[in-house]
Amino acid sequence: MTPHGPVIAVDGPAAAGKGTLAKKLAQELGLPYLDTGLLYRAVARLALDAGQDPSGPAENFAEHLTQQDMARKDLRTPDVAQAASKVAAQPAVRQALVETQRRFAAERGAVLDGRDIGTAIFPNADVKLFITASPATRALRRYMQMQGNPAAPDAGEKLAEMEATLKARDAADSSRAAAPLQVAADAKVIETDHLSAEAVLALALAYTRERLGS
Ligand code: DC
Repeated sequence: MTPHGPVIAVDGPAAAGKGTLAKKLAQELGLPYLDTGLLYRAVARLALDAGQDPSGPAENFAEHLTQQDMARKDLRTPDVAQAASKVAAQPAVRQALVETQRRFAAERGAVLDGRDIGTAIFPNADVKLFITASPATRALRRYMQMQGNPAAPDAGEKLAEMEATLKARDAADSSRAAAPLQVAADAKVIETDHLSAEAVLALALAYTRERLGS
């Protein structure tokens, strides 16, 4: 199945700003956008709801995933993130979601963000971006998003805890055998530690337009 439009892969570790960037890129380019992490989060949610250990076989949930499952409001919790990382390590779960992702881009192309878009789902993507930042920066951004004020008395403790959790999830996502998080050989790596979201978008957009010749 060859997509009838450009495919833009945005990969990287947790909380690197991939989602924010990918959504804006899609808007700028007039392309559909898919947050592929939501697929794994939705599978994890269903496994948890069924009282199942997310490390146990979960392909059944992946094979029958619906739009409604993906639209649930309770997918962005730390528990679901941890469980998503566990179901995502299962080759049968990943396999069940491959076609869903490819089909999403088939009609008009798409911007997809995840961990393995440029390496496994669309190895021939027109544009591959790898968005990253140090664990400390990512933990701080996530913290700001979730709580607001880093000057709160227990902020240091919480930040350290969040950084440790992020690192552990990255290590699990990078070391699994099935489609691990890794930088595609032909990806443009953008280190975002010292860049604003606007600056990352400008860089990514310029690179994408150059690659697409538009
Ligand atoms: O991007 P996120 O935090 O919503 O992703 C949740 C988990 O899903 C992440 O820890 C790893 C997994 N994932 C994956 O393995 N492959 C993807 N393309 C997207 C997410």
